[in-house]
Amino acid sequence: MLNPEIAEALNNQVQLEAQSSHAYLAMAVWAETSGYDGTATFFYRHAEEERVHMLKLIRFINERGSNAVVPALVAPSPAFTGLKQAFESVLEHETRVTQSINEVVDLCLKVKDYPTYNFMQWYVAEQLEEEGLARRILDRLALAGDASGALYHFDRDITTMEAEAEGPTA
Ligand code: FEO
Repeated sequence: MLNPEIAEALNNQVQLEAQSSHAYLAMAVWAETSGYDGTATFFYRHAEEERVHMLKLIRFINERGSNAVVPALVAPSPAFTGLKQAFESVLEHETRVTQSINEVVDLCLKVKDYPTYNFMQWYVAEQLEEEGLARRILDRLALAGDASGALYHFDRDITTMEAEAEGPTA
């Protein structure tokens, strides 16, 4: 059975990952209805990924003899002024997720829960990748500015940028 403090921290993380999935889903709807089909694909895929992050936590909590809690969610913002604002919101959100993961890792060390510490390293690496990708996308958007041609190319290329960030698959 997990230390109760660890179980609570992991369940908070379940909530945050579920909320992340929800936020990406709202972004996907906004992008798709704004004519950014490539960006919508990117956000739909991320909504799925965040759900997988949530499920990994749920399974871990249950396997360690505690009870995962399926959380209530808050309705995410349904609209953005443009791609820049949407991706600024992604970076802000992912930075918050990283902070939360770091707090879980700190707690694992404090209570000497090394199996959970080990499990959380996957999330540490994932956050590094996600924050890096959001920053690269914002750099690309800064170069594009408000030029519609450049934004068209951005939307066409965004899924390729993601594949490049993940590197070659085995
Ligand atoms: Fe799973 Fe992007 O936080």
